[in-house]
Amino acid sequence: MKTVLNNSILGTGVFLSLCTIGSAGLTDCSKNLAFQLTNLFQLDSIQFDYANCGEDDTGNGFAAGIVNFCTGTGDAWQVIEAYHNITGGDDEFTSLDKTLAAYAEDGNGSTAGIENFCGLWAEASKKQAFMDAQNQVLEALYFDPSQTYADSVNLTLSVTQAQLYDTAISHGASDSYNSLGGMISLTNSRFSRDIPGNSTSTLQIGGFNIDEIEWLKEFLNVRAGYSVEGDATNSIRAYILILQLQEYSWTDQITVLDNDDKQVVISCADSYMPSADSSSSSSPSSQSDDEKVSSSSSRSRSSRKKGSGSGSDSDKTNTEDDTTDDTKDTNDE
Ligand SMILES: *[C@@H]1O[C@H](CO)[C@@H](O)[C@H](O)[C@H]1NC(C)=O
Ligand SMILES: *[C@@H]1O[C@H](CO)[C@@H](O)[C@H](O)[C@H]1NC(C)=O
Ligand SMILES: *[C@@H]1O[C@H](CO)[C@@H](O)[C@H](O)[C@H]1NC(C)=O
Ligand SMILES: *[C@@H]1O[C@H](CO)[C@@H](O)[C@H](O)[C@H]1NC(C)=O
Repeated sequence: MKTVLNNSILGTGVFLSLCTIGSAGLTDCSKNLAFQLTNLFQLDSIQFDYANCGEDDTGNGFAAGIVNFCTGTGDAWQVIEAYHNITGGDDEFTSLDKTLAAYAEDGNGSTAGIENFCGLWAEASKKQAFMDAQNQVLEALYFDPSQTYADSVNLTLSVTQAQLYDTAISHGASDSYNSLGGMISLTNSRFSRDIPGNSTSTLQIGGFNIDEIEWLKEFLNVRAGYSVEGDATNSIRAYILILQLQEYSWTDQITVLDNDDKQVVISCADSYMPSADSSSSSSPSSQSDDEKVSSSSSRSRSSRKKGSGSGSDSDKTNTEDDTTDDTKDTNDE
């Protein structure tokens, strides 16, 4: 895990500049919308849940923070290292450093010796520096790699770029067959002739001219093959609605489908950062206050490694919601 983080950080040079976008892709507004949208599936809220923490369902120790960083897979330690860099090493976690580093190094999901981890995590999550550290690791492990993949296909539309971020969160951002890179390869392999379309972007895929939206439709088909329930399926359905509404380039707001199958508007004026708006509308605009869902207590925590075939550390995946009433049919056509 350490290796992956270092490669990722040193390779892109974006680690310390939080607001830098690692590609020509998503702008501040469309990136904000992409984060809000993925959070909506993952958390039933447009906002990240920095203080989230509990024992991982699958034995990877504690799972905590905005994408369930795990003590037993090493990315939680990466967050804490990034935080130490900001605090100078003297903070809530200092006394656990030795144990946390060892568990990260060994991939050990034991919680022995770190029993108070979640209390410390919650305490630290009140501080901007710790939220920044979580954001940095999210960017380094998921967002930046997803946009590097987007650039490699020359994607130009927000909807496609955001879908790759969403996939990285659910399936990891590695080349293994059931992770983002593998799904892109499989998508590309499915074209055997030019596919025109009505978007403004044409991709060169294996010598064929493929409209970017037609490419995205095929990508969603591929992804559906790896997603039978939970947030991933909700994401696919929401993106199909976005395509029907022809919301290709995101500049201001978009209409999306939430986990309850309701069309809601999310806007760049809102944010995935709780600290960014004190009025704190953590729900999209069609929901009234009493419908707001606080997910942190009910959400299951799991760091199931999809795409573990490659053994890549960046295969860590996020949770699926426990919104069992949302287990709808997965038909995306
Ligand atoms: C912490 O800072 C050191 C020295 O600048 C750097 O090499 C390392 O990559 C940083 N680690 C994290 C996790 O930010
Ligand atoms: C994990 O850590 C625990 C507690 O320190 C230890 O007892 C156990 O042997 C370790 N497991 C592995 C596989 O190293
Ligand atoms: C493009 O737009 C035309 C006219 O609206 C429509 O008939 C056609 O089906 C569209 N093509 C695709 C690939 O969406
Ligand atoms: C992306 O665009 C660059 C520059 O136009 C081109 O050289 C490259 O072949 C393109 N790659 C793909 C996969 O379309």
